[in-house]
Amino acid sequence: MAIIDKAEKKVLIITGCLMSLFVFSILYAKGKYKSDVPECIPFDKAYTTPKVNKIDEKTYQVFAVAQMWSFEPSMIYIPVGSEVDFFLSSKDVVHGFNIAEKNVNMMAVYGNINKTTVKFDKPGVYDIVCHEYCGTGHQNMKAQVIVNYPTATQ
Ligand code: CUA
Repeated sequence: MAIIDKAEKKVLIITGCLMSLFVFSILYAKGKYKSDVPECIPFDKAYTTPKVNKIDEKTYQVFAVAQMWSFEPSMIYIPVGSEVDFFLSSKDVVHGFNIAEKNVNMMAVYGNINKTTVKFDKPGVYDIVCHEYCGTGHQNMKAQVIVNYPTATQ
C-alpha cells in the first residue's frame, strides 16, 4: 500500500493550487484584454509581404514584417471596434512585437509566422515597439495602429 508522507501531500496540494491559479490567470487575461494567445501558423511566403487587408467593415488582417530596424506597415489605420488578425514575420533576426495597452507580446522570427487577434474598442493611437534587443537601431523600431483617425481611409 502506498503511503504519502504528510509533507509530500502538502506540496502536491500547493502545486495543484498554483497550477490552477496559473491556468486561471491566462484565461482571465484572455477574456479581460480580448486578445487571444499567440499561435504559430505554418509558414507561407504570402505573409511576408507587408499588407493591411480589409475583410469587412470591422475585420482586418495585418501582415506585419519586422526587419532591422523598422516595421512594415508602420501606420495601420482602422475604425473603432475593429478586430485585427496580426500575422508577424521577420526578414532577419529575432524582433519583438509589443502593442501598448493590448497585452500583446510576440516574437518575430525568420521563417516563422506568429499570429494573434486583437480588438480595438477605443479610439486612439496604439504604439507598437520592438522589445527584443536586435542591434544598434533597436530603439527606432516602432509602428502605430491608428484607430478612428478622422481622415482614415482604408
Ligand atoms: Cu527589432 Cu529590437
